[in-house]
Amino acid sequence: MKALVTGGAGFIGSHLTQLLLEEGHHVTVLDNLRSGRLTNFDEFKKSPNLKFFQADIRKIEEIQPHFEGIDWVFHLAALADIVPSIENPREYFEVNVDGTFNVLECAKKANIHRLLYAASSSCYGIPDTFPTPENAPIRPQYPYALTKFLGEELIMHWEQIYKIPALSLRLFNVFGPRARTTGTYGAVFGVFLTQKLNNKPLTVVGDGNQTRDFTFVKDVARAFLMGAESKLSGEIFNVGSGNHYPVNQIVKLLNHDSVNIPKRPGEPDCTFADVSCIEKKLGFKAETSFEEGVAKLLEKIDDFRDAPLWDAENIKEATKTWFQYLS
Ligand SMILES: NC(=O)c1ccc[n+]([C@@H]2O[C@H](COP(=O)([O-])OP(=O)(O)OC[C@H]3O[C@@H](n4cnc5c(N)ncnc54)[C@H](O)[C@@H]3O)[C@@H](O)[C@H]2O)c1
Repeated sequence: MKALVTGGAGFIGSHLTQLLLEEGHHVTVLDNLRSGRLTNFDEFKKSPNLKFFQADIRKIEEIQPHFEGIDWVFHLAALADIVPSIENPREYFEVNVDGTFNVLECAKKANIHRLLYAASSSCYGIPDTFPTPENAPIRPQYPYALTKFLGEELIMHWEQIYKIPALSLRLFNVFGPRARTTGTYGAVFGVFLTQKLNNKPLTVVGDGNQTRDFTFVKDVARAFLMGAESKLSGEIFNVGSGNHYPVNQIVKLLNHDSVNIPKRPGEPDCTFADVSCIEKKLGFKAETSFEEGVAKLLEKIDDFRDAPLWDAENIKEATKTWFQYLS
C-alpha cells in the first residue's frame, strides 16, 4: 500500500513509519519538524520506500500534492503538550483543528482509501468509570485535549458526510524509545530518564500512587496498522495496555532516588482504557508488558542525554499557568 503519515518524524509516527516499511508498504512522511526529528529515522532511513517532505499541515498547498495516489492516511501531526496549549490555544487550534481540516480536505480530493486518526484519551478528563469505555462523558480539561477532540469530531463528520473510511484511535499514555523531549515540561518517562542520566532525583508528582495506562509504542503502531487493514469505518477505539501502573512503579524499576512535587489540578488519579471494544472488533491486544517496555526504553537511555533536565524548581516555573488556570 501507499501510506502517508503526517507527524511521521515524531515519536509515535516514526515507529508507525518503521512498521509500515517493515511490512513492505511505501511511506510518505509529512512533518514540519516542530517536535519531530530526522534522527528518529536512523533505524530505517536507508529504506528505498521512505519519502520525507518537510511540510506544514496548516498550509494546504504544501501538503495537497503528496496525497495523490495514496491509499492509507495516518494523521498524527499535532502539537501535543499541555502547558503550551494553555498559554497559546490559538496555535493549538490552528494545528490540531484547522490542520486536521486540511488533511481531511486533501484526503477527500485524492480519494484515499482509509484514514486513521491519532486521538487522545485526554478527552475523558477526570473519568467516573475505570476502565474507561469509549462512551464515557467527554470532559476536556485543557486546550490540548479540546483541540484533539475537535479534530476527532471532524474526522467522524467527514466519514459520515463524504464517506471517507476512517477510524479514530484514542491513545492512552504511550511510552518507548524516541519519546518527545522538547523544551517543554512533558511526559514522565522523558523527564525521569534524563534525571537518572544526570544523577538527579526523579520528580514524582503528588504521592506517586496515581496510575497511568502506559502503552508501549510498538503496540500502538500495530493498532494503527490493524486499523488500516480492517474494513471497519466510523468507529472510535481506545488503545491501551489492558492495565494501569502507579508512577511509583517506574521509580522502582528505574531504581533511583526521588522527590515529591505538588499534585496538579485537572489531572486524573487514574487512566485506564477499557479495551474490550478494540479487542473484539479489531482483534488488537497490546503484547508488550510494562516491564519489557521499560527494559527496551532503558536500552536506549542515551537518546535522552540532550533532553532538558528538570528539577522541582524549574518544573514549578514551567507549570505556573497550569496551576493558575486549572485550579
Ligand atoms: N504520546 C502520547 O502518549 C499520545 C497520547 C494520545 C495521543 N497522542 C497523539 O499522537 C500523535 C503523535 O504524538 P507523539 O507523542 O508522537 O508526539 P510528537 O510531538 O513526537 O509527534 C507529533 C509530530 O507532529 C509534527 N508536527 C507538529 N505540528 C505540525 C505541523 N503544523 N505540520 C506538520 N507536522 C507537524 C511534529 O514535528 C512531530 O513530529 C499526536 O497527534 C498526539 O496528539 C499521543
